[in-house]
Amino acid sequence: MAVEGTLLVIDNDRNTPAEMQRILRGPGVTVLTAQETEQGLKCLEENPVDIVIADFRMHQTDGFHLLKQIRADYPSVHRILMSGFLDQGNAMRFISSGLVTTFMAKNLEAAFLREKIGHILSVRSILQKEKLLDLISSIEGLPALPSLYRELVQSIEDGKSMEEIAEILKRDTAIAAKVLHVVNSAFFGREDISSITEAAIYLGVDVLKDIVLTAEIIGKGRWSDEQIGRLRTIFLHSFMVGRYLPFFHKLLRGKSRKGQLEGQSVAPFPSIGIVHDIGKIIILELYRERYQAIVEQQARTGNGSFYVAELALGFEQSSHAEIGAYFLDWWNLPQAMIETALFHHRADTAASEYRDLIKATYVTDTVINHIQDNLETGELDLNALSLKDLSGEELGKLGAKIARELETHNDFIETLV
Ligand SMILES: [Fe+2]
Ligand SMILES: [Fe+2]
Repeated sequence: MAVEGTLLVIDNDRNTPAEMQRILRGPGVTVLTAQETEQGLKCLEENPVDIVIADFRMHQTDGFHLLKQIRADYPSVHRILMSGFLDQGNAMRFISSGLVTTFMAKNLEAAFLREKIGHILSVRSILQKEKLLDLISSIEGLPALPSLYRELVQSIEDGKSMEEIAEILKRDTAIAAKVLHVVNSAFFGREDISSITEAAIYLGVDVLKDIVLTAEIIGKGRWSDEQIGRLRTIFLHSFMVGRYLPFFHKLLRGKSRKGQLEGQSVAPFPSIGIVHDIGKIIILELYRERYQAIVEQQARTGNGSFYVAELALGFEQSSHAEIGAYFLDWWNLPQAMIETALFHHRADTAASEYRDLIKATYVTDTVINHIQDNLETGELDLNALSLKDLSGEELGKLGAKIARELETHNDFIETLV
Protein backbone atom coordinates (compact mmCIF):
# COMPACT_ATOMS: atom_id res chain seq x y z
CA MET A 1 0.00 0.00 0.00
CA ALA A 2 1.49 3.32 -0.99
CA VAL A 3 -0.40 4.97 1.82
CA GLU A 4 0.25 5.78 5.45
CA GLY A 5 -1.76 5.32 8.58
CA THR A 6 -2.38 3.48 11.80
CA LEU A 7 -5.06 0.84 12.18
CA LEU A 8 -6.43 -0.71 15.33
CA VAL A 9 -8.07 -4.14 15.13
CA ILE A 10 -10.26 -5.09 18.10
CA ASP A 11 -11.57 -8.63 18.20
CA ASN A 12 -11.99 -11.23 20.96
CA ASP A 13 -11.09 -13.87 18.48
CA ARG A 14 -7.53 -14.98 19.07
CA ASN A 15 -6.54 -15.29 15.42
CA THR A 16 -8.23 -12.41 13.63
CA PRO A 17 -6.13 -9.49 14.95
CA ALA A 18 -2.86 -11.27 14.21
CA GLU A 19 -4.10 -12.34 10.79
CA MET A 20 -5.23 -8.79 9.95
CA GLN A 21 -1.89 -7.49 11.14
CA ARG A 22 -0.07 -9.90 8.86
CA ILE A 23 -2.19 -8.90 5.85
CA LEU A 24 -2.34 -5.16 6.36
CA ARG A 25 0.99 -4.21 7.88
CA GLY A 26 3.36 -2.57 5.43
CA PRO A 27 5.67 0.37 4.88
CA GLY A 28 3.89 3.34 6.40
CA VAL A 29 1.03 1.24 7.76
CA THR A 30 1.04 0.26 11.43
CA VAL A 31 -1.48 -2.26 12.71
CA LEU A 32 -2.24 -2.27 16.44
CA THR A 33 -4.30 -5.07 17.91
CA ALA A 34 -6.47 -5.60 20.98
CA GLN A 35 -8.48 -8.58 22.13
CA GLU A 36 -10.59 -6.77 24.70
CA THR A 37 -12.53 -3.52 24.41
CA GLU A 38 -10.77 -1.97 27.43
CA GLN A 39 -7.43 -2.68 25.86
CA GLY A 40 -8.67 -1.22 22.57
CA LEU A 41 -9.81 2.01 24.22
CA LYS A 42 -6.50 2.32 26.03
CA CYS A 43 -4.70 1.85 22.74
CA LEU A 44 -6.76 4.70 21.24
CA GLU A 45 -5.86 6.91 24.17
CA GLU A 46 -2.17 6.33 23.64
CA ASN A 47 -1.88 6.32 19.83
CA PRO A 48 -3.11 8.49 16.97
CA VAL A 49 -5.31 5.98 15.13
CA ASP A 50 -6.80 6.48 11.65
CA ILE A 51 -9.04 3.44 11.37
CA VAL A 52 -10.61 1.20 13.99
CA ILE A 53 -11.81 -2.20 12.86
CA ALA A 54 -14.03 -3.80 15.50
CA ASP A 55 -15.77 -7.13 15.51
CA PHE A 56 -19.52 -7.04 15.99
CA ARG A 57 -19.58 -9.94 18.44
CA MET A 58 -17.52 -9.37 21.56
CA HIS A 59 -17.65 -10.41 25.21
CA GLN A 60 -17.93 -7.21 27.24
CA THR A 61 -19.79 -5.08 24.73
CA ASP A 62 -20.70 -5.59 21.11
CA GLY A 63 -18.73 -3.86 18.37
CA PHE A 64 -21.59 -1.51 17.70
CA HIS A 65 -21.57 -0.05 21.21
CA LEU A 66 -17.82 0.11 21.20
CA LEU A 67 -17.88 2.10 17.96
CA LYS A 68 -20.54 4.37 19.43
CA GLN A 69 -18.20 5.19 22.27
CA ILE A 70 -15.29 5.68 19.88
CA ARG A 71 -17.34 8.07 17.78
CA ALA A 72 -18.11 10.16 20.84
CA ASP A 73 -14.49 10.32 22.01
CA TYR A 74 -12.63 10.25 18.68
CA PRO A 75 -15.03 11.55 16.02
CA SER A 76 -12.45 11.73 13.25
CA VAL A 77 -11.46 8.05 13.45
CA HIS A 78 -12.83 5.94 10.61
CA ARG A 79 -14.93 3.16 12.15
CA ILE A 80 -15.27 -0.22 10.50
CA LEU A 81 -17.67 -2.78 11.91
CA MET A 82 -16.63 -6.27 10.97
CA SER A 83 -18.95 -9.23 11.12
CA GLY A 84 -19.40 -12.68 9.77
CA PHE A 85 -23.17 -12.70 9.95
CA LEU A 86 -24.71 -9.23 9.69
CA ASP A 87 -27.22 -8.99 6.88
CA GLN A 88 -27.23 -6.20 4.31
CA GLY A 89 -30.24 -4.45 5.87
CA ASN A 90 -28.65 -4.26 9.30
CA ALA A 91 -25.34 -3.16 7.84
CA MET A 92 -27.09 -0.30 6.02
CA ARG A 93 -28.85 0.72 9.21
CA PHE A 94 -25.56 0.95 11.07
CA ILE A 95 -24.00 2.97 8.28
CA SER A 96 -26.93 5.38 7.97
CA SER A 97 -26.89 5.98 11.72
CA GLY A 98 -23.41 7.44 11.24
CA LEU A 99 -21.96 5.28 13.99
CA VAL A 100 -20.24 3.00 11.55
CA THR A 101 -18.38 4.51 8.63
CA THR A 102 -17.88 1.25 6.79
CA PHE A 103 -19.20 -2.25 7.21
CA MET A 104 -16.98 -5.16 6.34
CA ALA A 105 -17.62 -8.88 6.14
CA LYS A 106 -15.24 -11.06 8.11
CA ASN A 107 -12.62 -13.22 6.41
CA LEU A 108 -12.28 -11.12 3.30
CA GLU A 109 -9.69 -12.16 0.78
CA ALA A 110 -6.30 -10.59 1.61
CA ALA A 111 -5.93 -8.64 -1.65
CA PHE A 112 -9.44 -7.24 -1.38
CA LEU A 113 -8.92 -6.28 2.27
CA ARG A 114 -5.65 -4.52 1.45
CA GLU A 115 -7.28 -2.63 -1.39
CA LYS A 116 -10.22 -1.58 0.77
CA ILE A 117 -8.10 -0.32 3.65
CA GLY A 118 -5.62 1.34 1.27
CA HIS A 119 -8.50 3.14 -0.35
CA ILE A 120 -9.90 4.44 2.94
CA LEU A 121 -6.45 5.71 3.93
CA SER A 122 -5.99 7.44 0.58
CA VAL A 123 -9.37 9.19 0.91
CA ARG A 124 -8.31 10.33 4.38
CA SER A 125 -5.04 11.65 3.05
CA ILE A 126 -6.82 13.63 0.30
CA LEU A 127 -9.07 15.18 2.95
CA GLN A 128 -6.07 16.07 5.08
CA LYS A 129 -4.09 17.90 2.39
CA GLU A 130 -2.63 21.13 3.64
CA LYS A 131 -4.36 23.37 1.11
CA LEU A 132 -7.75 22.06 2.10
CA LEU A 133 -7.06 22.20 5.84
CA ASP A 134 -5.81 25.78 5.55
CA LEU A 135 -9.03 26.74 3.86
CA ILE A 136 -11.21 24.88 6.36
CA SER A 137 -9.35 26.20 9.38
CA SER A 138 -10.03 29.75 8.26
CA ILE A 139 -13.73 29.23 9.02
CA GLU A 140 -14.96 30.19 12.42
CA GLY A 141 -17.29 27.44 13.56
CA LEU A 142 -17.86 24.67 11.06
CA PRO A 143 -21.35 24.30 9.58
CA ALA A 144 -23.48 22.20 11.93
CA LEU A 145 -24.39 18.59 11.29
CA PRO A 146 -27.71 18.09 9.52
CA SER A 147 -29.14 16.41 12.62
CA LEU A 148 -32.81 16.23 11.68
CA TYR A 149 -31.85 14.58 8.41
CA ARG A 150 -29.89 11.95 10.30
CA GLU A 151 -32.77 11.32 12.67
CA LEU A 152 -35.18 11.04 9.77
CA VAL A 153 -33.01 8.49 7.95
CA GLN A 154 -32.65 6.47 11.13
CA SER A 155 -36.41 6.47 11.77
CA ILE A 156 -37.19 5.40 8.23
CA GLU A 157 -34.71 2.56 8.49
CA ASP A 158 -36.13 1.53 11.85
CA GLY A 159 -39.48 1.14 10.11
CA LYS A 160 -41.20 3.91 12.06
CA SER A 161 -44.70 4.84 10.93
CA MET A 162 -45.43 7.97 8.91
CA GLU A 163 -47.15 9.44 12.00
CA GLU A 164 -43.96 8.99 13.99
CA ILE A 165 -41.89 10.44 11.16
CA ALA A 166 -44.25 13.43 10.97
CA GLU A 167 -43.74 14.01 14.70
CA ILE A 168 -39.99 14.32 14.12
CA LEU A 169 -40.54 16.85 11.32
CA LYS A 170 -42.93 18.88 13.45
CA ARG A 171 -40.23 19.53 16.00
CA ASP A 172 -38.61 21.93 13.53
CA THR A 173 -41.34 24.36 12.60
CA ALA A 174 -39.39 25.91 9.71
CA ILE A 175 -38.86 22.50 8.12
CA ALA A 176 -42.45 21.40 8.75
CA ALA A 177 -43.67 24.59 7.05
CA LYS A 178 -41.35 23.92 4.12
CA VAL A 179 -42.68 20.39 3.67
CA LEU A 180 -46.25 21.74 3.49
CA HIS A 181 -45.18 24.51 1.15
CA VAL A 182 -43.52 22.03 -1.21
CA VAL A 183 -46.39 19.53 -1.25
CA ASN A 184 -48.89 22.31 -1.98
CA SER A 185 -46.72 23.87 -4.71
CA ALA A 186 -47.74 23.85 -8.35
CA PHE A 187 -45.15 21.15 -9.00
CA PHE A 188 -46.90 18.52 -6.90
CA GLY A 189 -50.30 19.79 -7.89
CA ARG A 190 -51.88 19.63 -4.43
CA GLU A 191 -53.33 22.62 -2.67
CA ASP A 192 -55.25 20.96 0.08
CA ILE A 193 -52.75 19.21 2.30
CA SER A 194 -52.51 20.66 5.77
CA SER A 195 -51.22 17.75 7.81
CA ILE A 196 -47.56 16.83 7.92
CA THR A 197 -48.39 13.12 8.01
CA GLU A 198 -50.43 13.40 4.84
CA ALA A 199 -47.68 15.47 3.20
CA ALA A 200 -45.08 12.87 4.18
CA ILE A 201 -47.17 10.05 2.70
CA TYR A 202 -47.82 12.01 -0.47
CA LEU A 203 -44.18 13.01 -1.03
CA GLY A 204 -42.67 9.66 -0.07
CA VAL A 205 -39.62 9.14 2.08
CA ASP A 206 -36.98 9.81 -0.61
CA VAL A 207 -38.29 13.26 -1.50
CA LEU A 208 -38.80 13.96 2.18
CA LYS A 209 -35.16 13.16 2.94
CA ASP A 210 -34.00 15.48 0.16
CA ILE A 211 -36.24 18.31 1.38
CA VAL A 212 -35.04 18.01 4.96
CA LEU A 213 -31.40 17.80 3.94
CA THR A 214 -31.76 20.81 1.62
CA ALA A 215 -33.54 22.82 4.31
CA GLU A 216 -30.88 21.98 6.88
CA ILE A 217 -28.01 22.79 4.52
CA ILE A 218 -29.30 26.21 3.59
CA GLY A 219 -31.28 26.92 6.75
CA LYS A 220 -28.58 28.52 8.81
CA GLY A 221 -26.86 30.65 6.19
CA ARG A 222 -27.61 34.31 5.57
CA TRP A 223 -28.11 34.62 1.86
CA SER A 224 -28.29 37.66 -0.39
CA ASP A 225 -30.72 37.74 -3.33
CA GLU A 226 -27.90 37.04 -5.74
CA GLN A 227 -26.80 34.05 -3.71
CA ILE A 228 -30.35 32.73 -3.54
CA GLY A 229 -30.40 32.77 -7.34
CA ARG A 230 -27.20 30.74 -7.40
CA LEU A 231 -28.44 28.36 -4.71
CA ARG A 232 -31.52 27.66 -6.79
CA THR A 233 -29.41 26.80 -9.81
CA ILE A 234 -27.29 24.42 -7.73
CA PHE A 235 -30.30 22.74 -6.13
CA LEU A 236 -32.17 22.42 -9.39
CA HIS A 237 -29.12 20.71 -10.82
CA SER A 238 -28.72 18.53 -7.72
CA PHE A 239 -32.37 17.44 -7.66
CA MET A 240 -32.22 16.54 -11.32
CA VAL A 241 -28.99 14.57 -10.83
CA GLY A 242 -30.69 12.68 -7.98
CA ARG A 243 -33.72 12.05 -10.14
CA TYR A 244 -31.81 10.64 -13.12
CA LEU A 245 -29.04 8.89 -11.21
CA PRO A 246 -30.90 5.56 -10.87
CA PHE A 247 -31.63 5.65 -14.61
CA PHE A 248 -28.00 6.16 -15.69
CA HIS A 249 -26.73 3.85 -12.96
CA LYS A 250 -28.90 1.07 -14.32
CA LEU A 251 -28.02 1.89 -17.92
CA LEU A 252 -24.26 1.86 -17.30
CA ARG A 253 -24.40 -1.23 -15.14
CA GLY A 254 -26.60 -3.12 -17.54
CA LYS A 255 -24.45 -2.36 -20.54
CA SER A 256 -21.05 -2.78 -19.01
CA ARG A 257 -21.14 -5.63 -16.53
CA LYS A 258 -24.34 -7.43 -17.13
CA GLY A 259 -25.60 -9.41 -14.16
CA GLN A 260 -22.39 -9.10 -12.22
CA LEU A 261 -23.59 -6.40 -9.92
CA GLU A 262 -27.05 -7.78 -9.34
CA GLY A 263 -28.38 -6.60 -6.03
CA GLN A 264 -26.22 -3.49 -5.90
CA SER A 265 -28.43 -0.48 -6.16
CA VAL A 266 -28.34 3.25 -5.59
CA ALA A 267 -31.59 3.00 -3.69
CA PRO A 268 -30.00 3.07 -0.22
CA PHE A 269 -28.47 6.45 -1.02
CA PRO A 270 -31.30 8.57 -2.36
CA SER A 271 -29.69 11.84 -1.33
CA ILE A 272 -26.54 11.41 -3.44
CA GLY A 273 -27.85 13.93 -5.96
CA ILE A 274 -28.42 16.54 -3.27
CA VAL A 275 -24.99 16.17 -1.72
CA HIS A 276 -22.70 15.56 -4.70
CA ASP A 277 -22.14 19.31 -5.22
CA ILE A 278 -22.55 20.36 -1.60
CA GLY A 279 -19.04 21.82 -1.78
CA LYS A 280 -20.38 24.52 -4.12
CA ILE A 281 -22.94 25.55 -1.51
CA ILE A 282 -20.26 25.70 1.16
CA ILE A 283 -18.04 27.85 -1.08
CA LEU A 284 -21.00 30.08 -1.87
CA GLU A 285 -21.76 30.51 1.82
CA LEU A 286 -18.31 30.71 3.37
CA TYR A 287 -15.89 31.77 0.63
CA ARG A 288 -17.87 34.27 -1.36
CA GLU A 289 -14.87 35.86 -3.04
CA ARG A 290 -13.63 32.51 -4.20
CA TYR A 291 -17.06 31.66 -5.60
CA GLN A 292 -17.10 34.94 -7.48
CA ALA A 293 -13.61 34.33 -8.88
CA ILE A 294 -14.64 30.87 -10.11
CA VAL A 295 -17.77 32.22 -11.80
CA GLU A 296 -15.70 34.96 -13.48
CA GLN A 297 -13.17 32.38 -14.64
CA GLN A 298 -16.02 30.31 -16.10
CA ALA A 299 -17.31 33.36 -17.98
CA ARG A 300 -13.80 34.22 -19.25
CA THR A 301 -13.12 30.83 -20.79
CA GLY A 302 -16.63 30.17 -22.00
CA ASN A 303 -16.28 26.68 -20.52
CA GLY A 304 -19.38 25.69 -18.60
CA SER A 305 -17.64 23.59 -15.97
CA PHE A 306 -17.27 24.97 -12.48
CA TYR A 307 -14.67 22.31 -11.72
CA VAL A 308 -12.50 23.18 -14.73
CA ALA A 309 -12.57 26.83 -13.63
CA GLU A 310 -11.47 25.75 -10.14
CA LEU A 311 -8.55 23.80 -11.61
CA ALA A 312 -7.54 26.77 -13.75
CA LEU A 313 -7.43 28.92 -10.62
CA GLY A 314 -5.18 26.40 -8.83
CA PHE A 315 -7.80 24.98 -6.47
CA GLU A 316 -7.19 21.36 -7.44
CA GLN A 317 -6.73 20.15 -3.88
CA SER A 318 -9.49 22.29 -2.49
CA SER A 319 -12.17 22.26 -5.18
CA HIS A 320 -15.87 21.89 -4.39
CA ALA A 321 -15.29 18.12 -4.55
CA GLU A 322 -12.76 18.04 -1.68
CA ILE A 323 -14.57 20.69 0.35
CA GLY A 324 -17.89 18.87 0.03
CA ALA A 325 -16.35 15.51 0.94
CA TYR A 326 -14.61 17.06 3.92
CA PHE A 327 -17.88 18.28 5.41
CA LEU A 328 -19.80 15.10 4.64
CA ASP A 329 -17.03 13.23 6.43
CA TRP A 330 -17.11 15.70 9.31
CA TRP A 331 -20.86 15.18 9.59
CA ASN A 332 -20.37 11.41 9.64
CA LEU A 333 -22.57 10.84 6.64
CA PRO A 334 -22.25 7.55 4.72
CA GLN A 335 -18.99 6.76 2.95
CA ALA A 336 -20.83 6.44 -0.39
CA MET A 337 -21.83 10.10 -0.12
CA ILE A 338 -18.34 11.23 0.86
CA GLU A 339 -16.67 9.38 -1.99
CA THR A 340 -19.23 10.43 -4.58
CA ALA A 341 -18.71 14.07 -3.66
CA LEU A 342 -14.94 13.60 -3.69
CA PHE A 343 -14.58 11.73 -6.98
CA HIS A 344 -17.53 12.80 -9.12
CA HIS A 345 -15.30 14.85 -11.43
CA ARG A 346 -12.60 12.20 -11.70
CA ALA A 347 -14.61 9.01 -11.62
CA ASP A 348 -11.78 6.98 -13.15
CA THR A 349 -9.61 7.41 -10.09
CA ALA A 350 -12.33 6.17 -7.75
CA ALA A 351 -10.83 2.79 -6.91
CA SER A 352 -13.55 1.72 -4.58
CA GLU A 353 -16.66 -0.34 -4.18
CA TYR A 354 -18.60 2.83 -5.03
CA ARG A 355 -17.01 3.20 -8.45
CA ASP A 356 -20.21 2.36 -10.34
CA LEU A 357 -22.21 4.82 -8.31
CA ILE A 358 -19.56 7.52 -8.78
CA LYS A 359 -19.33 6.93 -12.54
CA ALA A 360 -23.09 7.09 -12.82
CA THR A 361 -23.10 10.35 -10.87
CA TYR A 362 -20.43 11.76 -13.19
CA VAL A 363 -22.41 10.79 -16.30
CA THR A 364 -25.72 12.08 -14.89
CA ASP A 365 -24.03 15.29 -13.78
CA THR A 366 -22.51 15.85 -17.23
CA VAL A 367 -25.79 15.23 -19.08
CA ILE A 368 -27.86 17.42 -16.72
CA ASN A 369 -25.28 20.23 -16.81
CA HIS A 370 -25.19 20.11 -20.58
CA ILE A 371 -28.95 20.50 -20.84
CA GLN A 372 -29.04 23.09 -18.05
CA ASP A 373 -26.57 25.11 -20.13
CA ASN A 374 -29.00 24.91 -23.08
CA LEU A 375 -26.59 22.88 -25.20
CA GLU A 376 -27.68 20.29 -27.78
CA THR A 377 -27.53 16.64 -26.71
CA GLY A 378 -25.90 15.90 -30.07
CA GLU A 379 -22.74 17.58 -28.79
CA LEU A 380 -22.33 15.11 -25.93
CA ASP A 381 -19.51 12.62 -26.40
CA LEU A 382 -21.35 9.35 -25.83
CA ASN A 383 -18.17 7.26 -26.03
CA ALA A 384 -16.44 9.30 -23.36
CA LEU A 385 -19.51 8.89 -21.17
CA SER A 386 -19.66 5.10 -21.81
CA LEU A 387 -23.12 5.64 -23.26
CA LYS A 388 -22.36 4.35 -26.73
CA ASP A 389 -25.30 1.95 -26.59
CA LEU A 390 -27.67 4.88 -26.34
CA SER A 391 -28.68 6.08 -29.81
CA GLY A 392 -28.57 9.76 -30.70
CA GLU A 393 -32.32 9.68 -31.13
CA GLU A 394 -32.92 8.15 -27.69
CA LEU A 395 -30.63 10.71 -26.12
CA GLY A 396 -32.40 13.53 -27.98
CA LYS A 397 -35.75 12.40 -26.56
CA LEU A 398 -34.31 12.06 -23.09
CA GLY A 399 -32.72 15.50 -23.39
CA ALA A 400 -36.06 17.05 -24.34
CA LYS A 401 -37.73 15.38 -21.36
CA ILE A 402 -35.02 16.61 -18.99
CA ALA A 403 -35.29 20.12 -20.44
CA ARG A 404 -39.05 20.13 -19.80
CA GLU A 405 -38.55 18.90 -16.26
CA LEU A 406 -35.91 21.55 -15.61
CA GLU A 407 -38.64 24.08 -16.41
CA THR A 408 -41.29 22.56 -14.15
CA HIS A 409 -38.85 21.83 -11.32
CA ASN A 410 -38.02 25.51 -11.17
CA ASP A 411 -41.32 26.12 -9.33
CA PHE A 412 -40.55 23.38 -6.90
CA ILE A 413 -37.06 24.72 -6.19
CA GLU A 414 -38.41 28.20 -5.62
CA THR A 415 -40.69 26.90 -2.88
CA LEU A 416 -37.76 25.11 -1.31
CA VAL A 417 -34.96 27.69 -1.47
FE1 LIG B 1 -19.52 18.95 -9.17
FE1 LIG C 1 -22.92 18.45 -10.29
